[in-house]
Amino acid sequence: MKKHLEKFYALFSNDIGIDLGTANTLVYVKGRGIVLNEPSVVAINQKTGRVVAIGNQAKQMLGRTPGHIVAVRPLVDGVISDFEVTEEMITYLLNSAQKDNKKFFGPRVVVGVPSGITSVEIRAVRDATKNAGAREVHIIEEPVSAAIGIKLPVMDPVGSMIIDIGGGTTDIAVISLGGVVCSKNVRIAGDKLNNDIISYIRSEFKILIGEKTAESVKIAIGSVIPGSVPMEAVIKGRDLVTGLPREVVITDADIREAISQSIDTLVEAIKEVLETTPPEILADVMHRGVYLTGGGALIKGFPELLNEYIKIPVYVAEDPLTAVARGTGIVLEDLQAFNEVLIVNDDDIPSAK
Ligand SMILES: Nc1ncnc2c1ncn2[C@@H]1O[C@H](COP(=O)(O)OP(=O)(O)OP(=O)(O)O)[C@@H](O)[C@H]1O
Ligand SMILES: [Mg+2]
Repeated sequence: MKKHLEKFYALFSNDIGIDLGTANTLVYVKGRGIVLNEPSVVAINQKTGRVVAIGNQAKQMLGRTPGHIVAVRPLVDGVISDFEVTEEMITYLLNSAQKDNKKFFGPRVVVGVPSGITSVEIRAVRDATKNAGAREVHIIEEPVSAAIGIKLPVMDPVGSMIIDIGGGTTDIAVISLGGVVCSKNVRIAGDKLNNDIISYIRSEFKILIGEKTAESVKIAIGSVIPGSVPMEAVIKGRDLVTGLPREVVITDADIREAISQSIDTLVEAIKEVLETTPPEILADVMHRGVYLTGGGALIKGFPELLNEYIKIPVYVAEDPLTAVARGTGIVLEDLQAFNEVLIVNDDDIPSAK
């Protein structure tokens, strides 16, 4: 009976997966794949309280808005910081994902959330998605979804380790038999590295730069171990002494110095998770390696550096920025089979401490 009902709904509703990231939000539609990939930024007119732009368009406005327009990131550290704005954003995402293919019933939605989020935060995500028009909402921990997305055997009795380095948070998780065996969620990821670069340039060069500039230099010349050729970049900012614009040349060594402390903390956190991993599962991980996903995984030299510390092979997943979204897509193909990995009840406190 239930099967028939599901087939009926499948005809008249969409199945949608959302990776609600701090930096980027991705939307997957069953049968179509990833249909939307935009920065998690919303621009609001404070006079009218209305949303004026979302995604790429809003990101262009960050730090460049006139007084009454504010560009905000509704998610901070991977969790909802502004409920109403998040709801607006999810409504926009669901609408644009279904633009050409609106169905009679609201969609079934799988949403990825960071591990270690509280039951209150899970409820906020669930409510925001329901209010945005979803018929059913299923919640999955992001590292689990990332692991499914990159085809690790998460449902098998074998340990897999995944580290998802995003914008706001890094999720470190060891998974076996569809469950998180041990995990840690640290608030050191891409955003923190950008802030480290801003602070470093302020104290070393007495120049104030914006977040977008910091992110661009990080991506252009950032690394955690020296490469074969030195790299440099010209950055523009405001001289803290004269208040006037000034340019300076910074090198890859500057960036390494700026982010070194955060990188050390990250490596420590990864070591801690390994230390609490049960021996049999640890043996699996040593044999099969550690997988990196998320945009932060692309910082040059990180796999090599981590390998040096933990003595386990480290691999960057293919297309690391879309792993979580692809995972929600695989889950949507067979919600029944993946039932165990979903957070069914808001009072289920996820496994992370
Ligand atoms: N080539 C690169 N080198 C270094 N960092 C990068 C690179 N490309 C993207 N990033 C960083 O990756 C981060 C975004 O990654 P991602 O989209 O996985 O985060 P998110 O899923 O939105 O965040 P979270 O999972 O924390 O909620 C940004 O901080 C960005 O600066
Ligand atoms: Mg993410």
